[in-house]
This record gives sequence, structure tokens and C-alpha cells, in this order.
Amino acid sequence: MKIIRKIREMQAEAEKIRINGGKIAVVPTMGFLHEGHMSLVDIAKKHADHVIVTIFVNPTQFAPTEDLDKYPKDFKRDCELCESRKVDAIFNPDCKEMYPGDSSVWVVEERLSKGLCGRTRPTHFRGVTTVVAKLFNATLPHFAIFGEKDYQQAAIIRKMVRDLDFPVKIITGPVVRESDGLAMSSRNKYLSPDEREKALSISKALQEARQKILRGERTAGKIIGGINLRISQNGGRVDYVEIIDSETLEPLKKIDGKAVIAVAAFFGTTRLIDNISV
Ligand code: PAJ
Repeated sequence: MKIIRKIREMQAEAEKIRINGGKIAVVPTMGFLHEGHMSLVDIAKKHADHVIVTIFVNPTQFAPTEDLDKYPKDFKRDCELCESRKVDAIFNPDCKEMYPGDSSVWVVEERLSKGLCGRTRPTHFRGVTTVVAKLFNATLPHFAIFGEKDYQQAAIIRKMVRDLDFPVKIITGPVVRESDGLAMSSRNKYLSPDEREKALSISKALQEARQKILRGERTAGKIIGGINLRISQNGGRVDYVEIIDSETLEPLKKIDGKAVIAVAAFFGTTRLIDNISV
């Protein structure tokens, strides 16, 4: 497995693969890998003969008040995991390589990124779209795999690819959960045992909501109320609970087609997100 730190070197490697007729799938990550990430590697392997995992904690998607400095890292373990899943290369540039200091061009999505996480994190998604565009230019992939755990992020990247004609096919993989239902996340490491127990209320509330819908409930407000209550009774501070159209991400009042229930909530100082499709 190659470990590549320079953009030019990554591009040269990707060009070599392409000239030889190889197909490249990229899995962009911020490292501290878990089975959620590795499930995307497994999907990547089904589509391409060369899988590149990018590991870069992208400063431009963190607000000054957020957890950039303490974002968990374990590069050695990440490498072992990737090696064991037969990843071909890790692209791991440093900050200076990605942002030499004079950058003044951003990729900005202006519709889907306004709501949900964009409301409380207004500069987050322009950091994500910008870095993903740069990672695509470095790794020259045919396919890029993203998790539905970050449902809004995947929708925004699909839109970026469509609007800017990137020759990359976006593929998404389902949310991978711990055995008790908690959605896997690098940020789960921040939770104390007590907070972790309480944070289970997010996935439990989403399951309860699905049951209500299966029993015939269609009014979004009632379902949202139930989720809010369940999380706040468990000591969580809800950032948002929304039922949205699965494509436009517009909030729905009535559920009468494919919808997504999306939640963001704090347990202690840790902000967790989760969602289910209904
Ligand atoms: P990160 O949080 O490391 O996630 C990398 C990818 O793994 C994302 O596509 C995310 O949706 C997916 N993922 C995380 N947890 C998952 C889970 N439990 N089940 C399924 N997929 C999961 O998302 C980012 O990094 C960054 O914003 C990035 C796209 C790399 C840009 O910096």
C-alpha cells in the first residue's frame, strides 16, 4: 500500500493507473477510521480495481469554535486498517500542501447547504465542497464513495458534481451502526460512558419514529415532537430534528413519499448526527 503526501505525486500515480486502463475509486475521510469508513472501502472495491483512501483533517470545514485541534487521530492504526482491507493507496497531504496560504477560490453550494447542519455551521459545507473538489483533482477518481451518515453532505457533493460536471460517479453507502444502534462516528470517542449511553436515545428515537410511520402517522410535527422529547429527556441538547424530502432536503409537513428524518444533537460538548430513510 502506497502512502502519498504530495498532490503532484498523487496525480502522477492516478494518471498512470488511468493510462493503463485502471479504474479508481476514492474514499475521502478525515481519518480515525472505523467500520463506517471501511464499509465504503468495501463498496469502492466492488466498483474499481484501485482504491484510494484520503486522510486529511480539513481545517476549512471547522469553525474557529469547533473541534479541529482535538479531532482524534491515529494514523498508524488507520494504515493497518487500510492495509488489511487491501486499499491500494492512502493520500495523506499536510495542511500546507492542501492550503499553501494564498488560497482565494472556494466551491460553494448555495441551496442544499443552507438548512440542517448549514444553519448552525454556516461555513462548514463550503469547506467540504472545496476540499472534496481538491481531493478529486488530486486523485482523479472514476468513483467516489460517501456515507449516508452525512446525508446532507452526500447530497451537496452530488449536486456539486452535477453542476460543475466533474467526471466522477458518486456512490453512497448506508449508515453503519454499533451493535446497540449508535451510528459509528470518529466523534463517539469524545463521549463519556454515561454520555454514550444517553446518546443511544438518538437512534432509538429514530426507530420509534419509523414505527409510528409504519403504523400510519403522517404528520411530520408529531413525529418530530416525539424525537425531540426522547432526546431531551436523555439529557441531549437538540440542534435540529427535521423530516425532509430525500432529494431537495426541503422540510416536509406531511410524509407521503420518500423522506429522511435527520437529527443533530449535543451530548455534553459532542455534536452527533444521525438519520434514517422512511
Ligand atoms: P469523515 O467524517 O471522516 O467521514 C468520511 C466518510 O465516511 C463520509 O462519507 C461519511 O459519511 C462516512 N461515514 C462516517 N461514519 C459513517 C457511518 N457510521 N456509516 C457510514 N458511513 C460513514 O465526512 C468527512 O469525513 C469529511 O467531511 C470529508 C468528506 C472527508 C471532507 O473533509
